[in-house]
Amino acid sequence: MAFEEIKEKDSRFIAHTYSRFQTDICGGEGARLRSEDGKEYVDFGAGIAVNIFGVNDAAWKEAVIAQLGKVQHASNLYYTRPAAELAALLCEKTGAKKVFFSNSGAEANECAVKAARKYSYDKYGAGRHRIVTLKNSFHGRTLTTLTATGQESMHPACFAPYMGGFDYADATADAVRAAVTRETCAVMLELIQGEGGVNVLGQEDVRAIAALCHARDILLIVDEVQTGNGRTGRLYAYEHYGIGPDIVTTAKGLGGGLPLGATMFFGKCENVFGAGDHGSTFGGNPIACAGACSIVRRLDKNLLLEVQGKGEYLRTHLSRIKNVLSVTGLGLMLGVGTTKPAKEIAQKCLERGLLVLTAKGDKVRLLPPLTVKKDEMDFALQILNEVISE
Ligand SMILES: Cc1ncc(COP(=O)(O)O)c(C=O)c1O
Repeated sequence: MAFEEIKEKDSRFIAHTYSRFQTDICGGEGARLRSEDGKEYVDFGAGIAVNIFGVNDAAWKEAVIAQLGKVQHASNLYYTRPAAELAALLCEKTGAKKVFFSNSGAEANECAVKAARKYSYDKYGAGRHRIVTLKNSFHGRTLTTLTATGQESMHPACFAPYMGGFDYADATADAVRAAVTRETCAVMLELIQGEGGVNVLGQEDVRAIAALCHARDILLIVDEVQTGNGRTGRLYAYEHYGIGPDIVTTAKGLGGGLPLGATMFFGKCENVFGAGDHGSTFGGNPIACAGACSIVRRLDKNLLLEVQGKGEYLRTHLSRIKNVLSVTGLGLMLGVGTTKPAKEIAQKCLERGLLVLTAKGDKVRLLPPLTVKKDEMDFALQILNEVISE
């Protein structure tokens, strides 16, 4: 089907919630994508941080196809090996004690919100249910996670009433301390705010927030939906901060392209959920989990060091481009502030064969596959240089 035909069908039959770039994607290899009409692109978006080993990843395909030949779905009424193995792998690698599987980042965060409220209810009784989140954060599109999202523009009147129970603070320890009350059961943070502008939270602030939470038995939830699974050069970004969260949520890269979310429970909340407290028809699906095992197994020390090195290489060269005002982020999660509108830069990059993303605050956002190659990085730098400095 030619592009125009796909576009026509899409706009006739799919709800108009997305403003898409003017190309389709139909195949590729690693960080190289192609459209139906044969255009080629270098991919610095990875399906918004999902395809961390790029497309057509042999090991992931092999794991998924092997599982497809066994059973595609069993429901959570029965045990399945891939889910058990993935949970064990995540716990071994992070020190978490239990995992709940869902299908997306928003669902992983919903689960964290329910768990935090229940932890507090079980221990302290009713009324200690509020959660502090940060201004500029993004936690998802369901009504609860939209409410958790600390951006006024994400709370339009047409979707009201919102959930309630959330308080918003600036990204400093003092502001979080001021927002915490006797009714607070948790603080939820993205350590690098992705959609909010690739803002890296300060080391001292995060450690002070973690200490405050610990001292008052307030659960610290870290949303690693975007930062997780090697993206920042550590398996999870909280490792950069030397803190011990109580709950970590993740999705995107974990499934490598199949829908999968995970909520990881550490020490004190490991047994917060009992039978019937939470559930999901598809959560822990054996195909998604088999693919995820092949991903998490490969996120080893060498790969993470490579991610750090590639991130530094890109950061150094991006900072030298004329009209670049700032380069923020960690590892292969980078935000570039320039003198030009980010949307315009993304559009021009696309025309020259490079796919990039944008974020709030007019940032160009770069999230290439972790396996992006040197020549692909050089191509991206060359195009960004042309587009930004012209
Ligand atoms: C930090 C963060 N949390 C939650 C979400 C929501 O994830 P999903 O779209 O899988 O529901 C996103 C998605 O961009 C995200 O970046």
